[in-house]
Amino acid sequence: MNHIQQLISTEELQTICQKIGSQITEDFEGETPLIIGILKGCQPFMADLIKEIGLDLEISYMKVKSYEGTTSTGKITLSLDTDISIENRDVILVEDIIDTGKTMKTLTEILLERNPKSLNVVALLDKPERREVEFNADYIGKIIDDVFVIGYGMDYNEKYRNLPYVGILHLEETEK
Ligand code: IMP
Ligand code: MG
Repeated sequence: MNHIQQLISTEELQTICQKIGSQITEDFEGETPLIIGILKGCQPFMADLIKEIGLDLEISYMKVKSYEGTTSTGKITLSLDTDISIENRDVILVEDIIDTGKTMKTLTEILLERNPKSLNVVALLDKPERREVEFNADYIGKIIDDVFVIGYGMDYNEKYRNLPYVGILHLEETEK
């Protein structure tokens, strides 16, 4: 059996969503931002976060494939694009975690070519120690050490996304 050590409780996740939500509400006062969730890891973070934003907003999703197992492949493909044009929009990307930074760096480069009015990135978690390319998110829920985490949208080989908390995954020897 793999061992899961709780790192961020459901209550703390709620507080993180409230904090970022009210910051976005303040920063985009009078605007109608387009919130784009990066599937699949953005769920359920995005669901909780948008409930804390007191603005008219629109939502969309994109899907990027960039990670296998516990080590980044560094290869990024866009497998689902937004259904709403981002041109001249205040775009806010919602990502689960920033690790090497490759995914968000590449994705923001692609999106900036489409001329949004503004482009901001929200990341629930950030592992700055692991960075391989320079990238800084605009809103960060929590900075964590170099550990592999699962739950609250995040997976290990598609498992554990439904956990209501974030945990550190300790793999059983046979799974490594
Ligand atoms: P990056 O391109 O290396 O920054 O990778 C970002 C992506 O890798 C995230 O969107 C996650 O899907 C995945 N990832 C990175 N670290 C973890 C982790 O600790 N647990 C689960 N997924 C992770
Ligand atoms: Mg993932």
